[in-house]
Amino acid sequence: MSQPLLFTPLTIRDVIIRNRIVISPMCQYSANDGVAADWHMVHLGRYATGGAGLVFTEAAAVERIGRITHGDLGIWSDTHRDALARIVGFLKTEGATPAIQLAHAGRKASMQRPWEGNGPLGAEEFARGETAWPIQAPSADPVMDGWLEPTAMSTGDIARVVQAFADSARRADQAGFEVVEIHSAHGYLCASYLSPVSNRRNDRYGGDRVGRSRFLMETVEAVRAVWPDGKPLFVRVSAVDGSPDGWSLEDTVALARDLKAAGVDVVDCSSGGISGPVTAARGPLPGPGFQVPYAEAVKQRGGIASQAVGMILEPEHAEAILQEGRADLIAIGREALLDPYWAHHAARVLQADPEFQAWPTQYGWWLHRREQAMSRA
Ligand SMILES: Cc1cc2nc3c(=O)[nH]c(=O)nc-3n(C[C@H](O)[C@H](O)[C@H](O)COP(=O)(O)O)c2cc1C
Repeated sequence: MSQPLLFTPLTIRDVIIRNRIVISPMCQYSANDGVAADWHMVHLGRYATGGAGLVFTEAAAVERIGRITHGDLGIWSDTHRDALARIVGFLKTEGATPAIQLAHAGRKASMQRPWEGNGPLGAEEFARGETAWPIQAPSADPVMDGWLEPTAMSTGDIARVVQAFADSARRADQAGFEVVEIHSAHGYLCASYLSPVSNRRNDRYGGDRVGRSRFLMETVEAVRAVWPDGKPLFVRVSAVDGSPDGWSLEDTVALARDLKAAGVDVVDCSSGGISGPVTAARGPLPGPGFQVPYAEAVKQRGGIASQAVGMILEPEHAEAILQEGRADLIAIGREALLDPYWAHHAARVLQADPEFQAWPTQYGWWLHRREQAMSRA
């Protein structure tokens, strides 16, 4: 049987990723003023021992006011960098490629943690000393009625945040990360520039698609300038922003071409979130692979490698997406919370690792012997 594509290494620039399985960025709301804790080492470490190729940190804020909640991870200082470097070292020891998502929450900053309500901070948070902070966005419109009102960013603010992304990428390189992803999805700052729903500016950062893309493109250029040539750069987008008059798939395909020309290697295709929470959204759940058509359109028509994400649960489904040329990488989110060893289990299902060789030796040696003993019994 030939090696499944899911377990065929992928080379992007100078980086070799051991397989095509990606752990999607997942906020843990467990950092201390942005600094990674023991929780992050265990949380991310188990995905590396679990066999994933690329392990993403959650969204890491490039400046303090860019956190979604008080518990968000950050990378706005060298203290943040050094805490992450220890985790990066472990991920590499276990053969995973360490990746970081750089983010700014924009008008969705200063919120409650999901399990505390996922809305604006309220009396309970204030009582334990978690105060709200002033937030910034392209225009002075809140996400919804009753949410914090952002101030519209001046061109000076724009330059400051673009520089914060570049400074954070430099720190990510120093920490040893091999992949950086710019978070431009889910209604956070970069995405809120793209969408006409949240960007009503009439200067060069608003207006038509090109104007609304300028903030992201300047961020990409600033990051690419400091991020080493040999290291891949990803951008996560909401391929459609969830509003009927908002950012469309056609806009995403056009943007993907511009991103490729600017030195981006992979577009990671999510969706939604311009006017409220994404993953905590209530209502009918989307079905398996619901966002794969976006990754397919970006790959086929945008001419750039794509990452599929969203309810990809079964190894056979992940393999079929790759075999059919619909995406280059498969990101797993909540299914990895359920099973941090998803990649090893997928390899068993697809018969890619019958002797447990991809497992950490501490486990694989025993499991292989156990299997031999069982087959003799
Ligand atoms: C707990 C949790 C935290 C998340 N945090 C982030 C994040 O930091 N950045 C991001 O781009 N997406 C985030 N997401 C979205 C996931 O990366 C992923 O796109 C989404 O969960 C769909 O994939 P799944 O069906 O495999 O979970 C988060 C999702 C969950 C469940």
